[in-house]
Amino acid sequence: MPEVSVAQQRIRVAPASNLLDSLLAAGVPVAHSCRAGSCHACMVRCVGGVLVDAQSQALSLSQREQGWRLACQCQVQDDVSIELFDPIRDAQSARVHSCDWLSEQVLRLRLQLQRPLRYSAGQYVQLWIADDIARPYSLASLAGEDPWLELHIDCAANGAFTSRARHLQAGDSLAVGELRGAALHYDPQWQAYPLWLLAAGTGLAPLYAVLREALRQEHSAPIHLLHVARSAAEHYLREELEELARQYPQLQLQYCQATELAPALAQLRLVSRQTRALLCGAPERVEEFSRRLYLAGLPRNQIFADLYLPRAR
Ligand SMILES: Cc1cc2nc3c(=O)[nH]c(=O)nc-3n(C[C@H](O)[C@H](O)[C@H](O)COP(=O)(O)OP(=O)(O)OC[C@H]3O[C@@H](n4cnc5c(N)ncnc54)[C@H](O)[C@@H]3O)c2cc1C
Ligand code: FES
Repeated sequence: MPEVSVAQQRIRVAPASNLLDSLLAAGVPVAHSCRAGSCHACMVRCVGGVLVDAQSQALSLSQREQGWRLACQCQVQDDVSIELFDPIRDAQSARVHSCDWLSEQVLRLRLQLQRPLRYSAGQYVQLWIADDIARPYSLASLAGEDPWLELHIDCAANGAFTSRARHLQAGDSLAVGELRGAALHYDPQWQAYPLWLLAAGTGLAPLYAVLREALRQEHSAPIHLLHVARSAAEHYLREELEELARQYPQLQLQYCQATELAPALAQLRLVSRQTRALLCGAPERVEEFSRRLYLAGLPRNQIFADLYLPRAR
């Protein structure tokens, strides 16, 4: 039986075992979330032997050359030696500048990094709140304008990350890992095309950044922002958005609660085949948005989406 060496532990596993499952079964505190190769919370470094990797393209060539692998995507066939991701060594340390509640459930976290991060509107980062707890969160801030990284965290799940995030205070430390995501973005060539921003819950965070980027780039065509929330009280950032709508008449805002989403989407009318649509939030909401856009006749290559996949059980 192949053997996995990790942090002075040697674990015997059945051939072709999944590496993440084997580590967790042996009580090794390895971070993980989606189990689908998407969140990158389960990165480990292979420092001896070879792992069978089902999704080698999920990491960059330089990450792979350094030995990084996604534990949830690897099978153990032969003896291997691995190191766990260490947020202190392998990520960048961040200090909480401030945290405040934008609604009953949405926490706004502003982080200051030791070194500046070059990012674009719509991207997300891996946040580490403990050695074995990492989750991806979208950036709501705008590089070059905001002196911090801003994140909007929906704490309703009260899960491993969010139950701790609730208690963060200014001055606390977190680690910021990989910067990822290219689906949600603003292309300056879209200036004259209508823009639809469809956000569910904290899916508003990256779309708020994209909206501000579009306005910064003098987007001239109509922008329609729809925010769907669990309740009226969860339409956070309303004042900021309404202020933008006063300044920029091309911006139109629409709010609806989850139960009213179907009729609200049915009202969306495609006035131009050039429309670009950006969607973000829980997978079932993004699917609902996508279905409506498909029925409205919007070509698939004009739809850009990020899904907030929850932790797989
Ligand atoms: C690319 C990406 C970007 C993200 N950006 C953001 C963001 O900007 N803001 C934000 O608030 N979240 C965001 N998320 C979701 C976030 O990463 C966490 O999944 C979420 O905060 C819950 O983490 P947790 O550790 O508290 O819960 P966990 O401990 O991971 O989960 C607790 C339990 O609740 C379930 N659960 C968790 N979330 C949901 C859900 N939405 N629907 C149904 N069941 C759920 C889990 O399956 C689990 O059973 C993003 C996710 C992805 C993939
Ligand atoms: S990529 Fe492995 S748990 Fe998300």
